[in-house]
Amino acid sequence: MPWPYHLRCFNCQTQYPIQTTNYRCEKCGGLLEVRFQISGRKTPWKNRSLSVWKYRELIPIDDDRFVTTLAEGGTGLHHCQRLGREMGLKRLFVKNEGENPTGSFKDRGMTVALSKARELRKKKVVCASTGNTAASLAAYSARAGLQCIVIIPEAKVAAGKLLQVMIHGARIFQVSGDFDEAMRAVVRLTERRKGFYLMNSLNPFRLEGQKTLAYEVCDQLDGKTPDALVLPVGNGGNISAIWKGFSEYHDLGIVTVMPRMIGIQAEKAAPIARAVKRKQTRITPVVNPQTLATAIRIGSPVNWTKVLRAIKESNGTAETVTDSEILEAQKDLAAKEGIFVEPASAASIAGLKKIREAGGIDRSDFVVCVTTGHGLKDPSVANHLRQSESHNLKITEPGWIERLERVL
Ligand code: F0G
Repeated sequence: MPWPYHLRCFNCQTQYPIQTTNYRCEKCGGLLEVRFQISGRKTPWKNRSLSVWKYRELIPIDDDRFVTTLAEGGTGLHHCQRLGREMGLKRLFVKNEGENPTGSFKDRGMTVALSKARELRKKKVVCASTGNTAASLAAYSARAGLQCIVIIPEAKVAAGKLLQVMIHGARIFQVSGDFDEAMRAVVRLTERRKGFYLMNSLNPFRLEGQKTLAYEVCDQLDGKTPDALVLPVGNGGNISAIWKGFSEYHDLGIVTVMPRMIGIQAEKAAPIARAVKRKQTRITPVVNPQTLATAIRIGSPVNWTKVLRAIKESNGTAETVTDSEILEAQKDLAAKEGIFVEPASAASIAGLKKIREAGGIDRSDFVVCVTTGHGLKDPSVANHLRQSESHNLKITEPGWIERLERVL
């Protein structure tokens, strides 16, 4: 059973009961968030194995019978010594979310949001997506036996993600526009038809699953917190959720310091990074955002208020990276550390490199980069790789082993 919780407006703090299915405040239109009563509580999960559901008391699902899981979370925290050395960092770790069941961090949120959808007796779940949310929702809906509807942008969704959506049997609708248009479509649909439950990161329950990444990192580091957590930002759900996780661990007294939250965006899809750099309190949406990191090709991020607050409260920052910096970082991580991530995820490595070079992070800083999705999701990256030379081998001819050794 979870500890007592309620919903609260992030903006004006109006409280709402837990059965609320709205995701915006009726008074001011602000985003809602789940608030747990945690002060003074003892945490019973020390000897449980690492996973989203390890933290059952902080997951707002009331009845275990509705829990829908594919074993999410518990992803590796990998010490990247070779890459760290190149960047002049003693302690660089990668929290690799590609290790989740459908290959992205979305599964952390989806296990919780899908369980909530069942608890609320919803039969149809819907999302707008650049691919990963859709893939994850499709899988969890299949697992739970709910009907899944995904709305995707007109421009390319990565092939692996589309395959996942199709194989899990979701219904796909394509808008004649970009992700922001798809998002407008799901918001309107779910406002007008209460039978459709919205599963994007506007749904506060989804973020409750995603916050567990912060708990896991602290647990994997035996109660220490990194100095900085670096991650790609699209809609901004993940960075806000993770900051909430650190804040809750802090309120529980498990950690005493908190990391700086550092958000990375693609240069031509960077409304949040722009606002942070210009010290603005609002974002200006980007019209027609562009990047080959299609997962984060978003011009009008719905969670921007939460992101700006997370970055400010944590004394964090934001940075932009070009597509070629992203591709270089993707290759570096794969070739030097054995971790293959999709372009959006590599943005965190590319951004860290840039900030480190500019002196925004010290050599002695303990840095965790979150890589959000698996590399196989987007095979189109192969078109950007320089063809590696391949050699013919005829093992019927003598001397072939010597010839092989010669070209090494
Ligand atoms: N990395 C990957 C691989 C993603 O798929 C996304 C978002 C992000 C980072 C950004 O996370 O939106 O919480 O700031 N993908 C969404 C989707 C938009 O539809 O799959 P965020």
